[in-house]
Amino acid sequence: MSAPDAQRLRADTPAAQAGIHLNNASAALMPAAVARAMQDYLHDESVLGHHAAAERHAAALHAVQSDLARLLGTAQSVECFDTVSRAMALLLDAIPWRPGDRLLIARHEWGAVIAAAGQLAVNCGVIVQDIPAAAPTRIDRDWLQHHVDDRVRAICVPLHTAAGGDACLTVDLPRPPGCLVFGDAAQALGQMPFALDRSGYDVVVGTARKWLRGPRGISFAGFSPAGHALLERARWLASAPQAAAVTSDYTRLLRIGLGAAARYALEQSIDAVQARVLALAGRLAAGLRTLDGIELLHAGAPRSGIVAFTAGGRESALVQALARDGIRVALIEQRYHPGLFQDLGVAHAVRMSAHVYNTEHEIDHALARTATALAG
Ligand SMILES: Cc1ncc(COP(=O)(O)O)c(C=O)c1O
Repeated sequence: MSAPDAQRLRADTPAAQAGIHLNNASAALMPAAVARAMQDYLHDESVLGHHAAAERHAAALHAVQSDLARLLGTAQSVECFDTVSRAMALLLDAIPWRPGDRLLIARHEWGAVIAAAGQLAVNCGVIVQDIPAAAPTRIDRDWLQHHVDDRVRAICVPLHTAAGGDACLTVDLPRPPGCLVFGDAAQALGQMPFALDRSGYDVVVGTARKWLRGPRGISFAGFSPAGHALLERARWLASAPQAAAVTSDYTRLLRIGLGAAARYALEQSIDAVQARVLALAGRLAAGLRTLDGIELLHAGAPRSGIVAFTAGGRESALVQALARDGIRVALIEQRYHPGLFQDLGVAHAVRMSAHVYNTEHEIDHALARTATALAG
């Protein structure tokens, strides 16, 4: 990404002036266009009422699903939910499980998905099994080759984790007919190229608030033709207009924000976004590696904007010290990715995550303050 483009994206981001935001993997900063779309909608709701506002913004509301489909690279329809965790739970639950069916889950899967699978084991007699890791964030394909049989109905492999590591944007897994592959794209969409229809995934769930820079509280799922049948089964529980048989309510304001975020993302070159994010994260990782007492969770260059590390037991103190300096980073915990943290042998870690509007100067300042905090 050229320097002027990076400056333009930063100028589009009012909150970038409010401190150094290196917590984009938790929630990134909204571009002004997204905030404006929501402010306009809320204004119209307050002066016209709910129905007239929805009529006035009907075109934008209608476009959300097709813009999301373009963003996901799918010809199938896309649906909105509230959180990623609930969307995954709901969609997994929509599979017509029989006792003894098997659900295989990557070791580095998101904790809430593992918890949802646990419920299926209790309520439906599903046999839930870890797919062993060939390396942290990499599934053991040989194991799958030997352990997949006709009872496997679903396989869960996240596209990227909250703690960085490898990204898995395409899957070509051994599986029986009818077995669906689920992908958690919360940490992938918006920072790396992805095309659902060429990915091998059947169900992919993303969120507005992270790399897509949309509002909190809304997520979405895209489907392969095989995965799409699930949506029909799950729809009545989703926060969807099509759920009108059960409820006529859904969150129009957040949809407006998500749609604006999707359009904003589609206007940028995702390759240029990825290149900038990787350059910033590479600078962070290289600087952190020079500091005593810091161990990065993953070797080599970062594969995304996420850089996670331990700091000799002083992780929480470091996050707080940086916050006092106006630098926002995250403390990430084992419950986020229990299997991955176990494989890495850590209980928690500091995560710094850079997005396009961060600057080299911000990275260098965060590194300098980290060095000072650790020396103190
Ligand atoms: C990899 C991954 N999956 C899922 C989620 C959860 O998203 P939600 O809070 O929308 O359930 C997160 C949030 O940090 C995440 O990092």
